[in-house]
Amino acid sequence: MIQIPRGTQDILPGEVEKWQKLEEIARNICTNYQYQEIRTPIFESTELFLRGVGDTTDIVQKEMYSFEDRGGRGLTLRPEGTASVVRSFVGNKMHGNANQPVKLFYTGPMFRYERPQKGRFRQFVQFGVEALGSQNPAMDAEVVSLAMTIYKQLGLKDVKLVINSLGDTESRLAHKEALTNHFAPRIGEFCGDCQSRLEKNPLRILDCKKDRDHELMKTAPSILDYLNTESKEYFEKVLAFLDVMEIPYEVDPTLVRGLDYYNHTAFEIMSTAEGFGAITTLCGGGRYNGLVQDLGGPETPGIGFAFSIERALAALEAEGVTLVDEPKIDAYFIAMGQEAVNTAVGIVHAGRAEGLSLEMDYLDRKMKAQFKAADRLHAKHIVIIGEDELAKGVAVMKDQTSGEQEEVALENLIKTLKA
Ligand code: HAM
Repeated sequence: MIQIPRGTQDILPGEVEKWQKLEEIARNICTNYQYQEIRTPIFESTELFLRGVGDTTDIVQKEMYSFEDRGGRGLTLRPEGTASVVRSFVGNKMHGNANQPVKLFYTGPMFRYERPQKGRFRQFVQFGVEALGSQNPAMDAEVVSLAMTIYKQLGLKDVKLVINSLGDTESRLAHKEALTNHFAPRIGEFCGDCQSRLEKNPLRILDCKKDRDHELMKTAPSILDYLNTESKEYFEKVLAFLDVMEIPYEVDPTLVRGLDYYNHTAFEIMSTAEGFGAITTLCGGGRYNGLVQDLGGPETPGIGFAFSIERALAALEAEGVTLVDEPKIDAYFIAMGQEAVNTAVGIVHAGRAEGLSLEMDYLDRKMKAQFKAADRLHAKHIVIIGEDELAKGVAVMKDQTSGEQEEVALENLIKTLKA
C-alpha cells in the first residue's frame, strides 16, 4: 500500500464540511470588510521567496520544496501567500487600481518542509488577507480586527492577541546594532545558524528554535527601547484604535515573527484553550512596507495576516465548539418494484434539479434496510412508492420528525416536498 506523504492529510467527508463552513464564514467576513479574493499559482520562481521571505529565515534556509522543472527553471511550492500576492500586485500594476487601498484575501495550500507534529504540517491551508497602499494605523487595526472577528464568529473564546512593533528602518538598524553587540561576545555558544545570522540579520537569532533557552535570549535588547519617535507614535495609534474597537491585546516586545519583510506592527493570535497543544499560534501577520519595492514595484505600504485552517479547527475542537450541524436530506425515496423504481428515478432527478436534496437506494436493499439508510442520512421525509401507490398515482410521504404520513399525488410530490 502506498502511504500518504508525511505531514499531509486527507480531508474526508464528515470533516470536509467543517472546512467548507470555516471558509464560508471567513469569506463572508472578508466581503463585509471589502476584501476581494485573489488566486495565485501554487508554485512560483524560487527567487520570489528568497527576496520576499528573506534568505536568512528558516523558511528559506530549511523548509522550501524547491525543484527544477524540465526547462531548468528554479521553482518552489509556495511556503506562504504574501510574496505571491505582492508579486501579482506589482505584475498587474494594482497600484493603479481605481479602488485604493487594494484589499485582497486568499486561501489555499502552502508547503513547508517542517518536522510534522500536532498542528504542524508539511502541506497546510492558509486563509490570509493583504491590504496594500495605506500607511495608516487604522489600516493596521482593521487587519487585526478582521482576524479577531473571524475567530469570534467561529465561536472561539480562548484566543489572545499579542502585538509588537518592529519599527521603521531607522529603528530597526539601531536595534540590529544593539543585538549584534549583545550576542557577538558569546556567539560561539550558539548554533551554526545563529552564528551566520549574527552579521546578516541578528533579529533572526531571537526566533531560533534550538537556542531558545540561552540566557542571552532573555536579556536581549528589546525593540521597543529602540523605536524612534515616529515609530513609537505609530504603534501607539494602532493600539489606540484597538482600544476604540474594544479588542484586548498584550504587547510582547519579544514577538519578532519568522519572516524578514516585517516592520512596524507585528502580531500573532494564540489559543489559550486547555489541551490545545504545544504550538499555540493560530494566526500571524504584520506590516511590510518595503516588500512591494523589493519585488520591483513602486513604494507601497502593506499589511496582512494568515492563519491555517488546520489550527483553527484544532482550536474549535479544543474548545468543544461544533461548527456544522449534522447534514440532513429533504427526502429518501423507497421504491418497490421495477416500475416504481423507474418512477422514483424520474422524480428524484427532477426534484434535485429544483434544489431538493434527495437520495434513493442503489443496492436493491430490502425495505427495512432502506429505512435504516434513510435514518443514517437524517432524512426529513421518507417517500414510499410501492405497486399499490403506483396504481393510484400517489406516494406515501412520511414526516420523520412528527411521524405523520399522508398520500401525495405523484405530480405534486416535488411541490409538497419543497413546501
Ligand atoms: P506565518 O507566521 O509563517 O506567516 O504563518 C501564518 C500562519 O500559518 C501561522 O500562524 C499558522 O496558523 C499557519 N502555519 C504556518 N506553518 C504551518 C504549518 N507547518 N502547519 C500548519 N499551519 C501552519 C505567514 O505565512 C505570513 N505570510 C502571514 C502574513 C500575511 N503576514 C502578512 N501578511
